[in-house]
Amino acid sequence: MLSKEMESALNDQLNKEMFSAYLYLSMAAYFEDKNLPGMASWMRLQSDEEYLHATKFYDFIVKARGRVKLKGIDEPKFEWDSPRQAFEEAFAHEQFITKSINEIADLAVKNNDHATNTFLQWFVDEQLEEEATVENIVESFKLIADQPAGLFMLDRELAQRNSSSSE
Ligand code: FEO
Repeated sequence: MLSKEMESALNDQLNKEMFSAYLYLSMAAYFEDKNLPGMASWMRLQSDEEYLHATKFYDFIVKARGRVKLKGIDEPKFEWDSPRQAFEEAFAHEQFITKSINEIADLAVKNNDHATNTFLQWFVDEQLEEEATVENIVESFKLIADQPAGLFMLDRELAQRNSSSSE
């Protein structure tokens, strides 16, 4: 049985994952508008993955006999200065999510809640991977330095992502 404190922290994280899905869907729409279908597709898959993360929290709260409480999702940003800026913000957002996951894991340890701590370890690993993936894309943007040919190539490369991969 979850403590009220853990239940609340897990519900807050469920909301952050839903916001992540919404943010990346908004970025996908931005890339569609910029005629960058590869980046749009990459972000669309990222959004789908975030929705799955949210439902993992949903399922765990139910399994741990807590009560899911869905909260309002903030409106995501609509416009970015450049494709590179959108990916830089995605990277910053993932760092924020990592910090949030780590804080809940700390809380689970403090509460001797081994089940929640074990559940969260999947997210600890996932965040390592997600940060590294998005950071690599930001590095690619730095290398191409706003050259249209480079942007076209990077868009083609990001189009290769498929639904079973987080790359
Ligand atoms: Fe679910 Fe990208 O954090």
